[in-house]
Amino acid sequence: LTFELKVIWCVYVAPDCHYTEIVTTNSKVAVLGAAGGIGQPLSLLMKLNPRVTNLALYDIRLGPGVAADISHINTKSVVKGYDPTPSGLRECLSGAEIVLIPAGVPRKPGMTRDDLFNTNASIVRDLAKAVADAAPNANILVISNPVNSTVPICAEILKSKGVYNPKRLFGVTTLDVVRASRFVSEIKGTDPANENITVVGGHSGVTIVPLISQSGHTDITGEKLDTLVNRIQFGGDEVVKAKDGAGSATLSMAMAGARFAESLLRAAQGESNVVEPTFVDSPLYKSKGVDFFASKVTLGADGVQEIHDVGKLNAHEEKLLDACLSDLKKNIEKGVKFVAENP
Ligand code: NAD
Ligand code: LMR
Repeated sequence: LTFELKVIWCVYVAPDCHYTEIVTTNSKVAVLGAAGGIGQPLSLLMKLNPRVTNLALYDIRLGPGVAADISHINTKSVVKGYDPTPSGLRECLSGAEIVLIPAGVPRKPGMTRDDLFNTNASIVRDLAKAVADAAPNANILVISNPVNSTVPICAEILKSKGVYNPKRLFGVTTLDVVRASRFVSEIKGTDPANENITVVGGHSGVTIVPLISQSGHTDITGEKLDTLVNRIQFGGDEVVKAKDGAGSATLSMAMAGARFAESLLRAAQGESNVVEPTFVDSPLYKSKGVDFFASKVTLGADGVQEIHDVGKLNAHEEKLLDACLSDLKKNIEKGVKFVAENP
């Protein structure tokens, strides 16, 4: 890597990385929806990641164009774009260790993430079928909204194909903790790199549950706390409103997706104690009928290594969690029902 690219990567995406220590193994990363608002910067960040050896870019439009552009960046990985044909998608996925899925439509002002369900459910279902056939052992990172439903959709498709591995299916909720640490740092005047805020639940509105009591910031209380929690829960809406009809968060999401992919690669390459929040098939609230839940997860060579429970909550956070679980259950059921009725 050139010095500039190393600096960009180390400062913004992987502050803990040590270039000299990186062991290069064969790591193919596929991005489905690579020409979109998230897909392009996410693919760029994957090209800057020295752990990635092959980058495969697929979209229903412009995959090869984006790949040609990114392939000129002078890092070692080989980049290839694929046409929107069944064989193009198959080749793109073949041998992939990580499949990132940001394919689908984004919100416009006034919409909830659930309003995207009708369009994105079938996009994710069809891509999940292709992954099940061409890359059944890959780690699947679902970004397309509504994540609370698109992850269960993937799970149902993988089950129907007999290749479901709950340890390798992840809903990407990293942006919620990225936002939380930034918003807290703005209030406290601290470095966001030192603000590790736990956020659990799902990825929409009240299903996003920030646990500020665990951050040690006991002085954030009352109205200040309510405003902060609301901002974390509805941070996505802030961007949708500001973009005024032109989409939702793309650049911050690309950073968050790249961080999660980097964490999986670090774990796969032997690093221990790699912990990220993510929405996974989780035992934590199955007794309440909630089969998927986001909490801190230790990642290992086989994907999910350990799912951590939510820790100690105060009474206010217990209430937030109750509201979360009731919505989350419905979102998950909606995804499962969709696949049952539209296999
Ligand atoms: P975008 O419209 O800019 O890009 C989506 C891309 O997907 C387009 O290039 C489109 O051609 C492609 N696409 C559509 N159908 C496809 C298919 N069948 N196969 C392959 N590619 C296909 O949208 P965006 O801003 O990049 O957002 C993408 C999705 O990510 C949205 O659903 C959005 O809500 C979601 N999102 C999630 C998070 C999160 O935290 N998980 C954050 C931001 C956005
Ligand atoms: C986000 O949190 O920014 C994304 O889920 C996109 C959205 O619709 O808000």
